[in-house]
Amino acid sequence: MNDLSGKRGVILGVGNQRSIAWSVAEHLHNQGAELALTFLSDPKGRFEANVNKLGEKVNATLIKECDVADDNSIQSLIGALNNHWGEIDFLIHSLAFADQKDLQIEFSSTSRNGFAKAHEISAFSLLPLAEGVIPMMRKRGGGSIISMSFIGSMLAVPHYHVMGPAKASLEASSRYLAKEVGPDNIRVNVISPGAIRTLSSAGIKDFPELMRVAGEHSAMKRTVTQSEVAQTAVFLASEASSGITGQVIYVDCGYSIMAN
Ligand SMILES: NC(=O)c1ccc[n+]([C@@H]2O[C@H](COP(=O)([O-])OP(=O)(O)OC[C@H]3O[C@@H](n4cnc5c(N)ncnc54)[C@H](O)[C@@H]3O)[C@@H](O)[C@H]2O)c1
Repeated sequence: MNDLSGKRGVILGVGNQRSIAWSVAEHLHNQGAELALTFLSDPKGRFEANVNKLGEKVNATLIKECDVADDNSIQSLIGALNNHWGEIDFLIHSLAFADQKDLQIEFSSTSRNGFAKAHEISAFSLLPLAEGVIPMMRKRGGGSIISMSFIGSMLAVPHYHVMGPAKASLEASSRYLAKEVGPDNIRVNVISPGAIRTLSSAGIKDFPELMRVAGEHSAMKRTVTQSEVAQTAVFLASEASSGITGQVIYVDCGYSIMAN
């Protein structure tokens, strides 16, 4: 049921080997999916080099720069996907951004710009990406849009700050999208992984302590792996999850169900 042979989709959010999106790409490829990958340009070209390396490993048939803070860049990606495939089965949104400074100060001191930027990149970006792929999914008779949230959307997690409301917005946006495109057999779901050591999480103050608590206070007494999150992405991209939409699925070794 998890077989993805004949399916094709795009993954945004690979930065390096520790990225959740990296593991998602490997697992989707292992199930037979054809992949397009994107990278965010950085001054040293590290993300691009990493994504190219992953692209070789998973036989990506399209690799394209995309900065979701830039409408033209999003439209350029959608144009490239239209030219390359014209039809698409899934989109993986595995990216977020908050100004480092806003994660170090008191939450009430979050700047107007920092609040807007975190929401724009981490939540709003799902909308123009969805708008772009929906017509390509309709041609396939359906599709699956998947993004990554965190329990900081529901609970006041130490130092997660502006990312909390941004993730709450991402989750709510996914429900509204799910309602809009449900009749087209397009499903929109969110995975909420537990804490994982990655480039992004390293920017959260005292993240090692957050990891320690996540392990100690989870039902399974450990933290989750990128691979376990990726397996859930495979499930949500596949027909095995055909009746599931608008959901936030926790992949956190049971951290979210514990009272302490
Ligand atoms: N690591 C964790 O503990 C954890 C837990 C729950 C949810 N998440 C979420 O998982 C997702 C992936 O994060 P990760 O932990 O793999 O970290 P990561 O740093 O490997 O990935 C984040 C990606 O976001 C991309 N990005 C940032 N700004 C962008 C922009 N303007 N345009 C395009 N891409 C941009 C970066 O290039 C990077 O590849 C994020 O949504 C994150 O919030 C992470």
